[in-house]
Amino acid sequence: MKKEIKIRPFWYSDIWLWPKLITIITTLDKKGTVNAGPYSHIMQYDVMTKNPSLLVGFRQDSHSFVNICDTGEFVVNCPSAENLDDMMETAKFYPEGVNELEFTKFTQIPSLKVAPPSLKECPQIAECTVSEIIRLKKSTGIVIGKIEALVVDEELTMKMLMNVPPPLRKMVIGNTEEEAAEKGQEKVTAKLFTDLAREVGMDTELMDRFRSGG
Ligand SMILES: Cc1cc2nc3c(=O)[nH]c(=O)nc-3n(C[C@H](O)[C@H](O)[C@H](O)COP(=O)(O)O)c2cc1C
Repeated sequence: MKKEIKIRPFWYSDIWLWPKLITIITTLDKKGTVNAGPYSHIMQYDVMTKNPSLLVGFRQDSHSFVNICDTGEFVVNCPSAENLDDMMETAKFYPEGVNELEFTKFTQIPSLKVAPPSLKECPQIAECTVSEIIRLKKSTGIVIGKIEALVVDEELTMKMLMNVPPPLRKMVIGNTEEEAAEKGQEKVTAKLFTDLAREVGMDTELMDRFRSGG
């Protein structure tokens, strides 16, 4: 049986359940105080490598939107299900200048390319700078953010490695670690891994050829 439901404020967060990507966006206000809040109105925007972007929709009076307009930077942190309660804590309407993260178990860590902090517990993080802000009339503020860095937990990078045919993995690991060292990076990031793969022409077609043994 299907039924129509009432459209209430915040319908997207408690009624429209699927599909839903939940992120926690961290920003800094003009004084440098951290702000965090959950955001689901988010989508990859330009999927090509030249200008990788995310599009995020905010209430225009939200602290996150105001901070992004003021500072031009934000971090998209993707939490896992274990962080649900802490994610909901950041949704509360705390007064301006209050860092919601202080009421959670999240750990703030420095980001690589932008000033707002990243969240250690989040396995996937995008550090962004603003390319464009569109203020829709009496509606949402759309922020198009250029992804300056994609940072993922090493285990996720390992999953990417699983796409590489087994006989090549040892060589790929060695080459990627070497590249990281050359670039002065302490960690192998997903970006470094994919950039290097592209640079050396390791495209899917080539890898499939190895997989089939042809
Ligand atoms: C799961 C979830 C998703 C949300 N997604 C959005 C969203 O995409 N856009 C938005 O404006 N508010 C969204 N909200 C509401 C904001 O998180 C909420 O208004 C928050 O207090 C804003 O914090 P801020 O003022 O510190 O930015 C969402 C809330 C939840 C719980």
